Amino acid sequence: MTPNLNWVPHEVDIDTPSAARMYDYLLSGSHNFAPDRALADMFDQALPGSRDIARLNRAFLRRAVLFLVESGIRQFLDIGSGIPTAGNVHQTARRVAADSRVVYVDTDPIAVAHSQLMLADDPQALAIKADLCEPESILYAPQVRGLLDFSQPIGLLMVWVLHFVPIARDAVGILRRYRDALVPDSYLAVSHFTADSRPAEMAAMVKVMKRSANPIHLRTRAQIVELFAGFDMVEPGVVATALWRPEGPVGNDADRTEVLAGVGRKP
Ligand SMILES: C[S@@+](CC[C@H](N)C(=O)[O-])C[C@H]1O[C@@H](n2cnc3c(N)ncnc32)[C@H](O)[C@@H]1O
Repeated sequence: MTPNLNWVPHEVDIDTPSAARMYDYLLSGSHNFAPDRALADMFDQALPGSRDIARLNRAFLRRAVLFLVESGIRQFLDIGSGIPTAGNVHQTARRVAADSRVVYVDTDPIAVAHSQLMLADDPQALAIKADLCEPESILYAPQVRGLLDFSQPIGLLMVWVLHFVPIARDAVGILRRYRDALVPDSYLAVSHFTADSRPAEMAAMVKVMKRSANPIHLRTRAQIVELFAGFDMVEPGVVATALWRPEGPVGNDADRTEVLAGVGRKP
């Protein structure tokens, strides 16, 4: 049967697996193609438990957003937002604060197209296609400035995305440019694959991702902590995703230490 590809933007290369579509597949979504699924299965062979790792990351994102709303944040800049799935940031935030505004940013045309479709009738949220390595293209985009008020605190979310930034691109320097555009009491939430956990399996996973459009670059815990330069770490600091302010007993999820997560507040 010929698949119905009406939802695919014309510029999309469906033969090269993308991180957005592989993650969608790992989370049981339906916006992925055979090459994405094949590489995601190889990803899971290299790093067994990858579906749990993705699920725990998504749960961290939810708890981080709720924490930020409780801390007074009403506007979010979600960079590397991915293909919309259950528990998108605007939905999570608005369950507690109905006036929350969200800008979604991604480089993946499918992620952006689907986000724009989902938000077509939502004046308080929008999605743009941009690269996080070019902060000014996001921070000064008229659409972004039209929705977010940079004189008020913003929740900057970079969840499961900074490991796509090559080490040579100076992620710390890039983050400094975002930090400088935010007022005090803004927050940064990050999750990131770490080189410190299961090194052999991680190396195999990195090799698999070289076949995708989005190779992964591991950082040590110390390098991930450094990403928060200029922010005060919120307790409990940079920890495995399941251990960041869990809402109940975490059980075996505590053993999933491949992705580290943290939240910082700009003083
Ligand atoms: C796996 S998804 C994460 C989705 C969501 N943040 C979450 O944690 O559930 C990572 C996303 O980062 C996007 N991405 C990769 N490199 C990027 C870059 N340089 N700028 C913006 N987005 C990027 C990918 O296209 C992908 O959609």
